[in-house]
Amino acid sequence: MIKHLKELETPSLIINEEKMNRNLHRMMSVRTKHGVNVRPHFKTHKSIAIAKKQLELGAIGITVATATEAELLLDNGIEKILIAFPLTDRKKISRLLERGKNARLIFAIDSEEQAAIFKEEGNILEVEPELWIKVNSGLNRCGVEPREETVQLATFIKKEAVGKLSGLFTHAGHSYAAASPEEIDRIAKEEAESILTSANACENAGIPIEHRSVGSTPTFERAAQYDGITEVRPGNAVFFDAMQVGLGTAQLEETALTVLATVVSKKKGRFIIDTGSKSLTTEKGAHGNETVKGFGKILNEGELYVTRVSEEHGIVEIPEEAEGIWEKLQLNQRVEVLPNHACPVVNLFDYYYVLKENGDLVTLPVDGRGKSQ
Ligand SMILES: Cc1ncc(COP(=O)(O)O)c(C=O)c1O
Repeated sequence: MIKHLKELETPSLIINEEKMNRNLHRMMSVRTKHGVNVRPHFKTHKSIAIAKKQLELGAIGITVATATEAELLLDNGIEKILIAFPLTDRKKISRLLERGKNARLIFAIDSEEQAAIFKEEGNILEVEPELWIKVNSGLNRCGVEPREETVQLATFIKKEAVGKLSGLFTHAGHSYAAASPEEIDRIAKEEAESILTSANACENAGIPIEHRSVGSTPTFERAAQYDGITEVRPGNAVFFDAMQVGLGTAQLEETALTVLATVVSKKKGRFIIDTGSKSLTTEKGAHGNETVKGFGKILNEGELYVTRVSEEHGIVEIPEEAEGIWEKLQLNQRVEVLPNHACPVVNLFDYYYVLKENGDLVTLPVDGRGKSQ
């Protein structure tokens, strides 16, 4: 058994288990604080073991983004799954409708044309799919507009007997570009209101809406406060990252995921580590959010950042005021890097090393790595 971070070959993906556990409890605390359910997103950790832990801690189900993530969970005995992406491919839909006969799968719908595909495939298999309408609360990605357009699609689903419409959901991903906590408050309010006013409009039209689901890591704790919201779907909050620290959603001490790297070269005014775009990504945060510096923060060394990346190289340029660091950091020394965005970084590794609370290091597979179809 590897006993110390220094013994690991790098770059390696490290979870600090104590911090992750605290984050999981923070995530789940909205259940008691605000009386809402939690359906965490799998896309961040892509780990069956962590998803099961979230269910043990009280999550009502798991959210996924792709058909293959859903199939992975089903293969591992997780059966309450929201596929929060509008599937249109008949092969994927038909495969999942078949598997849904023995599970509880919920599908995202955002247009009549897509709903018609679900109706046809459901009829072929003689199943009634459970459906949630995706509502656009300002991210301007997928989703029908709140209220009128939502009622229109809900009416179509009901009239055409496409399936069982049981919920509305939205994701305020534009909160990542917020310039202040006040702006996140406002976006969270709009996120909740987009769903609540749309659900009321549907109910006024005689279509009951049982589930009203919102959530992104910057907004889920805020949006959970609004009466009538039934659940939240945080993903990133299992780990947090430099973007969340920049947004003020988390403190640096709460970040639970790092990339361990090695100093491989020292040159004038800079040193080079073995983590580049293939292990840190080139993510810089949402457009308009200036809070993230470089491509990752070197932890425990003051204000030091990975200032440039190529695929396997991370270049750390040393600011004049920190020149002593160049002397201090030796070849082969390990450094921990806080990624800007944890979710796509995880997808670049086969497994994590989990630093247990007792100091042991154990491996944990990134089961959903590459499950992008
Ligand atoms: C539909 C949906 N729900 C929830 C989430 C979770 O968001 P976050 O990772 O910010 O918590 C995402 C993330 O992209 C998403 O697309």
